[in-house]
Amino acid sequence: MGALLIEQSGPVVRVTLNRPDVRNAFNELVIAELTEWAEQVMAGATGSGPSTGSGHPSAGSGQRPRVAVLAGAGKTFCAGADLTWMSRMVSYTFDENVNDALAMAAMFNALDTLPIPLIGRVHGAALGGGAGLAAVCDIVVAADDASFGFTEAKLGILPAVISPFVVQKIGVSAARELFLTAARFNAARAREIGLVHSVVPATELDAAVDGYLRELLTSAPNAIAAAKHLIAAVAHHTPSDAGDITAETIARHRIAEEGQDGMRAFLEKRKPSWTE
Ligand code: COA
Repeated sequence: MGALLIEQSGPVVRVTLNRPDVRNAFNELVIAELTEWAEQVMAGATGSGPSTGSGHPSAGSGQRPRVAVLAGAGKTFCAGADLTWMSRMVSYTFDENVNDALAMAAMFNALDTLPIPLIGRVHGAALGGGAGLAAVCDIVVAADDASFGFTEAKLGILPAVISPFVVQKIGVSAARELFLTAARFNAARAREIGLVHSVVPATELDAAVDGYLRELLTSAPNAIAAAKHLIAAVAHHTPSDAGDITAETIARHRIAEEGQDGMRAFLEKRKPSWTE
């Protein structure tokens, strides 16, 4: 059995980390499966691959996914890297060890750059790489009793592979405090530092995720993909340097079929094609 459950219903794909016995800690198998899934979504969105995660046993409704939800099976979202797997690295050569870490980095990068929105549904705990997974989600909804932490330093290691994604999300100041203390923190604090967007009672977690799903499905898919790309691009530019990128982006999208349809739909007081 795979380490992930992937279920698609209409345009929504739910990816569930499925190693509840180890609190969904991820190892090389999870990394390979998550990376493969993200690459399939990417290939589908660019039209060069299958329309869904074909090839994955539990995927597929014949429709390209427009939104993804990342969740964890059992008591907790994700306890981070599997410490049994990480500690085994002592028997690897240094190059093998580095290549293994690079595969983890590729997974985080593939999730971070997905062309569709990724919603994190966090319950229980998101620790170490589990908090890293939250950082690469576009929107994170957390149960009010969930705990977070970049706990690596307590284990004699550090949050290295996830650091670019986390620092981008929570900023240098919070990262300096939380990477060094490795202290656990609650959902309210996670929201304060921008790791989480919505905190709700655990019983309302699915309803809160559904609310985001409804909202996202009324936004245009190509506009969403382009917005994600644009945010990443402008983050590395000053406003005065970003003019070419922003102007070209809006110039392309306002004459594209989707943009024309969306604007005409508003003016004609009808729904745009992607909401039908
Ligand atoms: N890697 C490997 N195994 C892990 C793990 C991890 N990151 N996190 C938990 N497990 C295992 C435990 O060793 C335990 O195994 P056992 O049943 O063989 O004893 C099992 O998962 C259940 O863990 P337990 O601590 O009893 O569950 P809990 O529900 O009381 O607490 C957590 C859950 C996630 C809060 C707790 O397990 C925890 O703090 N884990 C460490 C998280 C961490 O620091 N991750 C950073 C990794 S870089």
